[in-house]
Amino acid sequence: MCGILCLVLEGGVSGLTPCVVTGLTEVYNQWIAGDESVVLTEAMRTKLDNLERIRTATQRLKTVRNDVKGKHRVEREMLEKEIAKLTLEGSESLSSSSPSSTPQPAAQAPLAGPIKQFKSLESSIAARGPDYVSRQVHGKYALFSSILSLRQPFTSQPMLTTNGFILQFNGELYNEECLESCDTSFIASMLAVIPSEARQQGVIDLLNRLKGEFAINIIDITEDIVYFGRDQIGKRSLLYRQEQDSLLIGSVAHDSSWTECQNRIYIYANGVIDSQPYDNYNSPLDMDVSLDIIEETLKKAVSIRTSTIHPQVATPSTLAVLFSGGLDCTVLAYLLGNELRCTNHQIDLLTVGFDNPRINQTASSSPDRLLARKSWANLSKIFAEDSVVFNLVEINVTYAEWLTHKERVTRLMAPNNTEMDLSIAIAFYFASNSRYPSVKTTLVGTEEHCVENYKSTAKVLFSGLGADELFAGYSRHEALFLDIAEDSEDNNVTEMYKALHASLVHDVDVIHKRNLGRDDRVIACWGKEVRYPYLDPDFISVAMAVNPRQKITYSFKTVVTKKCLEGKRVLVLERKHILRQLAGRLGLEWVKGELKRAIQFGAKSAKLEVGQSKTKGTDTL
Ligand SMILES: *[C@@H]1O[C@H](CO)[C@@H](O)[C@H](O)[C@H]1NC(C)=O
Ligand SMILES: *[C@@H]1O[C@H](CO)[C@@H](O)[C@H](O)[C@H]1NC(C)=O
Ligand SMILES: *[C@@H]1O[C@H](CO)[C@@H](O)[C@H](O)[C@H]1NC(C)=O
Ligand SMILES: *[C@@H]1O[C@H](CO)[C@@H](O)[C@H](O)[C@H]1NC(C)=O
Ligand SMILES: *[C@@H]1O[C@H](CO)[C@@H](O)[C@H](O)[C@H]1NC(C)=O
Repeated sequence: MCGILCLVLEGGVSGLTPCVVTGLTEVYNQWIAGDESVVLTEAMRTKLDNLERIRTATQRLKTVRNDVKGKHRVEREMLEKEIAKLTLEGSESLSSSSPSSTPQPAAQAPLAGPIKQFKSLESSIAARGPDYVSRQVHGKYALFSSILSLRQPFTSQPMLTTNGFILQFNGELYNEECLESCDTSFIASMLAVIPSEARQQGVIDLLNRLKGEFAINIIDITEDIVYFGRDQIGKRSLLYRQEQDSLLIGSVAHDSSWTECQNRIYIYANGVIDSQPYDNYNSPLDMDVSLDIIEETLKKAVSIRTSTIHPQVATPSTLAVLFSGGLDCTVLAYLLGNELRCTNHQIDLLTVGFDNPRINQTASSSPDRLLARKSWANLSKIFAEDSVVFNLVEINVTYAEWLTHKERVTRLMAPNNTEMDLSIAIAFYFASNSRYPSVKTTLVGTEEHCVENYKSTAKVLFSGLGADELFAGYSRHEALFLDIAEDSEDNNVTEMYKALHASLVHDVDVIHKRNLGRDDRVIACWGKEVRYPYLDPDFISVAMAVNPRQKITYSFKTVVTKKCLEGKRVLVLERKHILRQLAGRLGLEWVKGELKRAIQFGAKSAKLEVGQSKTKGTDTL
């Protein structure tokens, strides 16, 4: 993953100096220190420990206070002193560790002038790209880029072309021309040959040609125009904030005063922002799609996302799967295993669970964890002969850790700010956080080998996001069919399937604002990048051409109950039918029947705090 930050300040940028930092040097650590300081691990833990001791002391104090005869005077004084000391310690350790460390809810952060705003985001941008950080100033433009290098040869950013374009690029391109090389250089070389008499059309045409997952910022210095945006689906985060004389564009934002880019092309000229859609957006194939075609296209989507991780080092793990053990991610894990047969690769299956003090449940008993174990064990067996090792990486998040990181996650996911956003974002945040110790389990024969304190080295994470949108995996999709009766007319049923298709097209169209921006912002802060095979443009075209009758199927069966001994006919619906067929064909019988569970419920990251049982997902934080 990379980070993009750009400031356009009419009248010119002053007070910012150019600089370059490579590798994990001390200077780099200073860059990200600003970001990390929000994570008050030690201090907050002390506070939490103290909290327990304060509680005990207060309890005891109540008893001795009621003792009127004064026998316990000494103990009472000692208890009062202890409470005072513990209380002070808690607040001191919080404020002394770093002056800027008091977590501020993102929405309340004070807004300063554009240059200050630019600088205050640099640490979050730096955290996204641990290999290289650079700041440049060109007249009225200030640019800050960070790079996580995954393609060879390494290419620095921002890139300047000889004909006056500046390029900032965060993403992966899968155009044929650059599968073997660096995609950033590919774009720069295309910019360099844009004819001077048609610069604007040249940039728009180029953006329409790019295939992959990206956010991009192109400045045309000669014509004074900025082009920016996210790919056709919107897989990478990009936001902007316009004020009278300034425009800020960034991978992350301060607060809800920023606007998230849609999956369109944005053009900023003469102080005005305009946007236009991509050509050929989301055009489905005009053909009947078979299971063969679905399998082949998904395999290819997995394959190009695997082969473009450079260098191809097998051990320790270079890639991981965000893994609940369910249908979508298990199919992906299988295809990855298949792709890496006989290469001695290790694949980390990341499964996250939260201790929930409110309902007194431990991370390891969360529903996802149990399913993840089963799918991991089965996958391990399938690939036992093929030198592909699946590591089950169990991440248990304690309540204290949840508390500690909550503010940082809240800040990172901005402008999104609801309870539901937090419960989803924090699950991804911990799943992708390889500094947080986890337990790795590998199956050798029938024996489980555990390694404690495991830290995943995978830089690329695969996500099953998109399968529910393409194949109808949500209950709201199923709800469209609840009125079906055995004697329903064909016409009526056809209308229901039309409605389903329209609903899926809409879901794909808005997935950038429902999921992708927020998830990118919280995952990338660990210098990791997510890839989404189901959201590959070719795969979307195929999936959208699948007859919706293959996505949700219905039948009727007779159910005998105590009340109704002769049996009652009930409607049975199956979501993501064709994807289950694919799972069956691949030999993944055990996930065929699994139902959808949203990550915040599967990992139990929703409603952790006491008194939250009535909290709604839509509540603002
Ligand atoms: C919470 O669960 C643990 C075991 O998982 C049990 O020992 C403890 O008593 C429970 N606490 C409450 C308040 O239910
Ligand atoms: C998957 O695991 C379950 C038990 O966890 C087992 O019953 C089943 O046979 C396994 N399936 C395959 C295909 O290995
Ligand atoms: C998570 O919980 C499981 C089950 O209790 C345990 O085996 C594992 O060691 C725990 N992992 C961590 C990182 O604490
Ligand atoms: C079909 O739909 C029409 C109106 O939409 C409704 O009046 C009719 O009862 C439906 N028929 C069946 C069999 O569901
Ligand atoms: C996240 O924020 C963006 C920009 O404000 C908004 O369009 C989108 O609907 C939000 N997403 C969710 C899930 O609330």
